[in-house]
This record gives sequence, C-alpha cells and structure tokens, in this order.
Amino acid sequence: MVGASAMRKLVAGNWKMNGLRADGLALARAVADRAAAAAPDCDLLICPPATLLAEIAAALRGGRVALGGQDCHAEAKGAHTGDISAEMLKDAGCVYVIVGHSERRANHHESDALVRAKALTARGQGLIPIVCVGETAAERDAGRTLAVIGAQLAASVPDGLGATELVIAYEPVWAIGTGRTPRPAEVAEVHAFIHGALRKRIAEAASPRLLYGGSVNAGNAADLMAVANVDGALVGGASLDAAAFWAIAEACR
Ligand code: PGA
Repeated sequence: MVGASAMRKLVAGNWKMNGLRADGLALARAVADRAAAAAPDCDLLICPPATLLAEIAAALRGGRVALGGQDCHAEAKGAHTGDISAEMLKDAGCVYVIVGHSERRANHHESDALVRAKALTARGQGLIPIVCVGETAAERDAGRTLAVIGAQLAASVPDGLGATELVIAYEPVWAIGTGRTPRPAEVAEVHAFIHGALRKRIAEAASPRLLYGGSVNAGNAADLMAVANVDGALVGGASLDAAAFWAIAEACR
C-alpha cells in the first residue's frame, strides 16, 4: 500500500498570468538545472501560462521537473473561444492540471460542479487534476471553515479516483498573495479533516496528496511542510523566483 506518508511530497509552482517567452524559459531552466544538480527529496511541478507550455515542455524533457496547466475546459473540444482543453494540455506535455483555483472560482464564477467536471475531463486524458479548495476570511471568521471545505470536497472532487490519480490543494483564499498564512495548528486541523473526508471516498486505503497553498515562501515552508497530512505545497508568488522555489523544495527534506 502506498499511503500519502509513503509518497514523496509535491512542490508545485503556479505561475498564474506571469511569464513571457524569454523569462519564462529562463525560470523553467533554472529550476530544472537545480533539480538536475541536486536531486530533490520531493516531486517538482511547474504550471506556466498556456502560451509557454510547449516550449517549456521541450526544455524540461528528460529532467526531474513535471509540467502542468493552470486550468482546462470541462468539455473535450468545440466552440469555446479562448479556452484550453485537457487534451491540448496533454499534447503540450502536461502531466497535471490545476482546477478550481479560487481565482477561477471567483473571477470566472466557477461552481463546484464545473470544477468536478473539469477534474473528470482532465483525468479522462490521463492528467492528474489538482483540485483546489479553501475558505474566505469571512467564512473562517464565522467558524465555517470545515463546513465550507467539506461542501467543496463533496461537490468538486470526483468519486472513484485512486490516490495517485488526484491531488487536493487546501488554499485559504485569505492567504493567497497576502503574506498571511494559517498557523500550523490551523493547517493541521483542515488537512486532518480533508484526509478523513477523502478516506471514505477514495477507492483504496491510501489518500491522495494534500498540498497546502497560500503565501508559502522560503521562510515559512519548513514549518508548513512539517505539519501532519501536508504532502506538499502549491506556490504562487515564490514560484516566480528559482532560488525561492528551490528553497521550498529543500524544506521538504
Ligand atoms: P501565493 O499563491 O503563493 O502567491 O499566495 C498561491 C496560489 O494561489 O496557488
């Protein structure tokens, strides 16, 4: 049995809408070069903007850094101007795709049902969906954090996936890009809750990897990665700096 504790941690960089060809390629190469020189104790993933995927895939080929998309459409193909299909991501060299990031949920009005459909479509293409959940500041202040996360998990995580076919990212909305993070005990509470909720729904005894995301940086990564049931990090701002991203990977040792 491969339990989450037996799995390597996953450190994933979400570049969001940042990166042009020259600096994006340089950043990807810098991460790949560090990973080649000193095998990290964790799995590494970068999720650049879609325009850079194919070129970065070529630069990463044969190395230790995997490639992921930041979103995909719930349908396989068709008249969806401006959208990207899971098959296109796969074709560009992706192994993972983020779905249900809070910026998509808020800015593009994505529902749990849509997120679930995206995750299923991604899985259908052999991609590993990283399903994001997280409470707002108002929800936490109202004592509703676990209820909100429970509802998001119930409605946006597909049933029937195996532990290695899915990743969950707990990202408190109020921690994203703010420099504020929950206390380790608060992260532990939510991750234990997610772990328990998924155990009932995942086909095996193992649990999928549970990432923490929201203002992870080189300074706080060791404390956050040491929390029980934290199997890695989803990193935004700090993933745009190769040294900071690498320091977070090192914190998984
Ligand atoms: P941040 O973003 O690390 O910049 O807070 C995390 C995320 O949105 O995935």
